[in-house]
Amino acid sequence: MRLKGGWKMNPTVDVDLTSEALRADPYPTYARWRAEAPVLRAKLPDKQTAWLVTRYDDAVTVLKDPRFANDRSRVLTPEQAARLPWTPSLFKTLERNMLNRDDPDHGRLRGLVHKAFNPRVVGNMVDRVQAITNELLDQARPRGRMDLIRDFALPLPTTIIADMMGVPVRDRHTFHRWSNALVTNSGTTWGMLRVVPSLWAFLRYIRKLVELRQAEPRDDLVSALVHAREADDRLSEDELLAMIFLLLVAGHETTVNLIGNGVLALLEHPEQIDRLRDDPDLIKPAVEELLRYDSPVQFASERYAREEITIAGVAIAPGEMVQPLLGSANRDERQFDRPNELDLAREPNRHLAFGQGVHYCVGAPLARLEGQIAINTLLQRFPDLRLAVPSQALRRRRSLGLRGLESVPLAFSRRRAAVLQATG
Ligand code: HEM
Repeated sequence: MRLKGGWKMNPTVDVDLTSEALRADPYPTYARWRAEAPVLRAKLPDKQTAWLVTRYDDAVTVLKDPRFANDRSRVLTPEQAARLPWTPSLFKTLERNMLNRDDPDHGRLRGLVHKAFNPRVVGNMVDRVQAITNELLDQARPRGRMDLIRDFALPLPTTIIADMMGVPVRDRHTFHRWSNALVTNSGTTWGMLRVVPSLWAFLRYIRKLVELRQAEPRDDLVSALVHAREADDRLSEDELLAMIFLLLVAGHETTVNLIGNGVLALLEHPEQIDRLRDDPDLIKPAVEELLRYDSPVQFASERYAREEITIAGVAIAPGEMVQPLLGSANRDERQFDRPNELDLAREPNRHLAFGQGVHYCVGAPLARLEGQIAINTLLQRFPDLRLAVPSQALRRRRSLGLRGLESVPLAFSRRRAAVLQATG
């Protein structure tokens, strides 16, 4: 890391956010940043400059302070807007999603869906989540091997969100293929161009789904949103498409990483995995700790300063982009005792894995439920679950903001798994 100039004045850091080393293990680097340059200026792959906010308290400030906006179109001066990197026009449709908006639009859009994800409604989904979990593990059991991501961590949340939205479950592989191309795109203009065909196919698919539900509404979220558009005019056409897109993508691309990163962290900490096996009631705090320890979403989405704001002694000018590093805040020694230790019973644990403030993750109750059921059932069903390759051989997914694994080969004894099922 090279700091240019006195960092309090102008801490531009030459750092390759897409480097293999950072992807493999970003936490030592984050610790250095928190100590030496808690708010640092980095070049993003698309050549934009962003202030990265690495400490817990500062990240909370950025997430909650209304002087930071999510909707840049209302903040940037015409000169700043003219300097933005070129984006294929197809991406513009998606910009109308709630994560990129501020109140009152944000509240209007969020209000259309938040009830579907509230803890009471999600509580009624326990049996469905458990049934899919069992089905996936039943399929894996006779083989004595499975790929954690492909066979379990990915199909579980993908099936659930497809169910809720009203997307035929048989299409889940297709929409994951498109969404994978989008979330793993390098963030450069060239990367964006490369994923245009996937985005085009994804949007065409969503448009068709909307038409189907217009013609024949069902008891699903897409029908409810179509109704909100048609009957009450509560969202525009682009907002409708962007909402469906956001829910489908956010509804599975994150939870897959909670289960993937979480199970890997447990396998790397045998004393913690035993603790959870011996006391499955520990699962609620355990999932919170896994979310903190290796956070599925490392970067919160972009915020823009509405006025000059000073954070950790650094003056951020109006219109500049700021990104709270949730993955770093969740390892901040000022907030957590022994932050680099995995302690499944950690208390208190006010992690930021789901963000904070008005954009706090709408799907958090669902993600928690899926994570709790998936991890507990996996450990109970396969008592001798182990990695089938050395952990150094595992590859992380290419994504700037999300942290996950491409594949995690696992092995277990069929005999012990079968015995457990017969008596369990
Ligand atoms: C472990 C799984 C998940 C993690 C770690 C996660 C993380 C996050 C984070 C950090 C934010 C806030 C980003 C910001 O303020 O910049 C967020 C927002 C959001 N999440 Fe999640 N999420 C998860 C699962 C889900 C699921 C299952 C859904 C379901 C559809 C979902 C839908 C959303 C939506 C719609 C927003 C935007 C909320 C708003 O702008 O008001 N997420 N999520």
